[in-house]
Amino acid sequence: MESKKKRIFSGIQPSGELTLGSYMGAIKNWVALQDEYECVYCIVDMHAITVRQVPADLRRRALGQLAQYVACGLDPEKSILFIQSHVPQHAELSWVLSCCTQFGELSRMTQFKQKSQQHADNITAGLFTYPVLMAADILLYQTDLVPVGEDQRQHVELCRDIAQRFNGVYSDTFTLPEPFIQRVDQGARIMSLGNPMNKMSKSDPDGCVNLMDPPEVIQRKFKRAVTDSETAVRYDKESKPGVSNLLTIYCAAAGKTLEEAEAEFQGQGYGVFKPAVGDAVIELFRPIREEAQRLMADKAYLEGLYRQGAERASRIAGRTLAKVYKKVGFLPR
Ligand code: TYM
Repeated sequence: MESKKKRIFSGIQPSGELTLGSYMGAIKNWVALQDEYECVYCIVDMHAITVRQVPADLRRRALGQLAQYVACGLDPEKSILFIQSHVPQHAELSWVLSCCTQFGELSRMTQFKQKSQQHADNITAGLFTYPVLMAADILLYQTDLVPVGEDQRQHVELCRDIAQRFNGVYSDTFTLPEPFIQRVDQGARIMSLGNPMNKMSKSDPDGCVNLMDPPEVIQRKFKRAVTDSETAVRYDKESKPGVSNLLTIYCAAAGKTLEEAEAEFQGQGYGVFKPAVGDAVIELFRPIREEAQRLMADKAYLEGLYRQGAERASRIAGRTLAKVYKKVGFLPR
């Protein structure tokens, strides 16, 4: 019997270590959704090679990311956890969808514009068509909801447009997915500690806290976090972006509301506030880091997990791809 639960799909690139941003914006939600939905969570290594990677590092990070997924509370008994390149239907559907996507649509993607500036000497076709592969990821699983951070909203909306277009031309084939994004003050957009006007990202090591950073490194990064020349710990995104970002992190890590946090630090300066945020994140990540280290020592277990995940994923993906190939007019093999 096919399950009646709605389906969730999401993924993270192993292009760097998992960060506080990807934890707050995505993984925290993924864990919470596991009971209510049928969840498929991917390590999108094919997306990672849109910019140059060191092959040995990519392999190490993909395996590490699986260990961290499990350590964060993603349960391989409940959710499908797998590696994108192990399920060939992603690349196959991506080609078909790229023939239903306009050049102009891809040219308007904010992330492409940013990344092509950052990697001006290596603007590959893959970087440009990246959102089509992401659409294939989502549509292969007939996904209802896609839990992501705010920065991925545009890509999920493009995916919806592509699905709608395909359904219009070839008759109903794909479920139309919705982005599932939490409120900004709850972590949908964590900013860099070094420059609170920019998103916290793997490519900015100083402003970025990693899930696997040792406690002293986390504390040092928070103590150096950019704030402002006032002293009040108060949420105001416009005039106090650094402090507001720290308050968001604190609330999400310690499970408090903004009002509770503002009251707690009333009359205290940043010298007390910043290390307290560091401590909250250290305590949040400590058990995850320890469990991930333990799992990393058991490579055979992790390999078993990703093989089993790929098999389960590929059964669902295969059904969708077969339908698509038939609808577009490919002869059966
Ligand atoms: P990626 O790998 O850049 O980021 C992974 C997830 O973390 C979220 N995120 C953040 N949320 C809040 N604040 C931040 N500073 C922050 N940084 C990252 C991202 O929004 C994302 O949810 N294209 C995707 C990966 C992908 C995907 C998919 C996602 C490929 N296929 C299919 C969903 C469905 C990406 O590059 O995310």
